[in-house]
This record gives sequence, C-alpha cells and structure tokens, in this order.
Amino acid sequence: MPQVIDVRSDTVTRPTPAMLEAMVHAQVGDDVFGEDDTVNELQRTAADLFGKEAALFCPSGTMSNQIGIKVHTQPGDEVICDELAHVYLYEGGGIAANSGASVRLLKGDAGRFTAEQVRANINRRDDSHLPRTRMVAIENTVNKGGGACWSLSEIERIRAVCTQHEIAMHLDGARLFNALVARNESPRDHGRLFDTISVCLSKGLGTPAGSLLIGSRELIARAHRHRKRMGGGMRQAGYLAAAGLFALEHNVQRLKDDHAKARTLESTLRSLPYVASVLPVETNIVIFTLTERLSTDSFLQQLRDHRVRALAMGPQTIRFVFHLDVSDAQLEQLLEALRGVRIS
Ligand SMILES: Cc1ncc(COP(=O)(O)O)c(C=O)c1O
Repeated sequence: MPQVIDVRSDTVTRPTPAMLEAMVHAQVGDDVFGEDDTVNELQRTAADLFGKEAALFCPSGTMSNQIGIKVHTQPGDEVICDELAHVYLYEGGGIAANSGASVRLLKGDAGRFTAEQVRANINRRDDSHLPRTRMVAIENTVNKGGGACWSLSEIERIRAVCTQHEIAMHLDGARLFNALVARNESPRDHGRLFDTISVCLSKGLGTPAGSLLIGSRELIARAHRHRKRMGGGMRQAGYLAAAGLFALEHNVQRLKDDHAKARTLESTLRSLPYVASVLPVETNIVIFTLTERLSTDSFLQQLRDHRVRALAMGPQTIRFVFHLDVSDAQLEQLLEALRGVRIS
C-alpha cells in the first residue's frame, strides 16, 4: 500500500529514528521539582537563543500562549490582536476563560496589522468606561494568513507605540522558525522586541509535543505558577525536551525544503481550472479557494482516493501544510493527484 500523504498540518509528523534515539538517552528527573536536566537545558538553550533570561517548557502552544496572555493581563483588561489570530479563534475562548480579558480585533493584511492600527485602538487610561489596553499579540507566521511573515520593521514600529503606552507584546511564534528561515532573521531580532515569545517544537520542527514560553526571569517565574495551575507541570518531561533540543539543532534550516515544496505547489495550483485564488506563499502553508464549480467535499474526497489528506479551512477554502514527512516523490504524487481532480 502506498503511504498516505498527510498535508493537513505540520503537526502530523512522527519523530525520526535519530530523534527517538536522542529521546531514549535523555537524562531525566522530576521537572515539577525542577530536577529534569534535559528540560533545564532546553529552557536555557531557548532563552539564550532569543537573548532572554528564562524559558518555560509547556505541553502545547495553546498553553504557552494562554500563559503568555495571563502574565500580562488582569481580568477586565483588553488584548489587541488580528481577527485571524489563533489565540482568539482557536484556543477555546481561553483569553476570556483564563485571563478574563476582552479582545479588540484588528483587520490586517493576512493577519498582519500596522502600528497606526494599534495606536488607533488603544483605550484612554483616564476614562473608566473603557477596558485597559494591556497587550498586543502578534502571530508569526500567520497560520490563517497562509503562513504569511511579518516585516521586522513593522514590529519595531508597533513596539515603539507599545512602549510609549506601557503595553506588553506577546508573540505567538508557533511557526516562528519558518519566518526566521524565510526572512533570514535571527531569534534575537524578535527577542529584543517582545516581552514574551511562544514557540512550538511540535509543528515544522517535528517533535511529538512541546512549546516554550520565553521571557524575563520575573515573567517566567509567574508563568511557572500558571502552568502548574493549568495542569501543565510534567514530570520526566526530559524525553520530550530531548526531542526539542534535537529539533533546534537539526530541523531548523531544513524548513527551507518545506517552503520550496509549498512554492512548487503554489505554481501548480495557479494553473488549475478549479482554483479561484491562492494566498501568496511565503513559508510552508498553502491556502487556496476553489471555484464554485467544485465543492470542498468532492475535492477532498477525490484527493483521499489518491491517498492525500488535506484540510478544509472554511467555505471553498483548503489548506495544505508541508513538513518533514513529505518527500520529493510524495510532492510529485500530490501534484499528479491535483491535476487529476475532476469538476463533475
Ligand atoms: C499559530 C498557532 N498558534 C498556536 C497553536 C497551538 O498549538 P498547540 O496545537 O500545540 O496547542 C497553533 C496550532 O496549530 C497555531 O497554528
């Protein structure tokens, strides 16, 4: 049986034999007591990489984002983010449930807003009718924006506005390494601009689980308490941390291969009669819409018949995500399957 080509998400990867080997040999201890050497090493490594003081290993990106929001806000405060933001759309209402904060949504370009939009949406502090604007959350790359990357200079401009108004900045960097590789930027470029950064190890970097929240010693000490409260304290988590250390060493530069595959797919899609539009491809995510002549269900079923799994993202909208478990040969098979789709 040929293997299934699963491009629903970059979270579907399984650890490689080399990653498993690193995991098996991890030095572990009880991380709730702070005694897991491998977790401690991963946290130190991540903090150094971003030029920050500390980091906290969390089970998921949702948890590291939610803790990031929690440490910056009090109930009744307001968070500014884009209408496409994962923290708003896909974290189970966590901003309200965990932090009791309201959200001011901005309409950006593929999830990227401007410093002027931020400035225009900051509430006056001297008007007690208004929630206090406490933080801005940026997502890089933007998942629902088709893997779009932010420009560093716009983030710098937003930072200047936030500093002026004493507003914290959190980065949902679930796929930040994709942006860094695509834009030739360094983690420290972002470390100096954000108060907290969440990065996922379980997406393009290919580990089975785990995300890091990175920030100052003081913020991360508070984050530690929230992680415990949310039930995210893990014991011999060093086995997972070892996968993270392996991924940071071996799986970052190779993200370029995923980006190249995504661009190849983009050009094929642009030539197909049933594709209405494709979001510009910058990293490993490809989002496109089907013309009215082909239903999403029919499209996905025809792909499944060719052992390809993709994801519906909305009416007539499809997402493909490339990752380290899609080979060159499988990309060819995928393109072949797409060329064979019938508009019945
Ligand atoms: C942009 C973004 N942020 C956060 C998350 C949450 O990560 P997790 O699934 O590990 O909770 C995801 C998951 O897909 C994501 O795409």
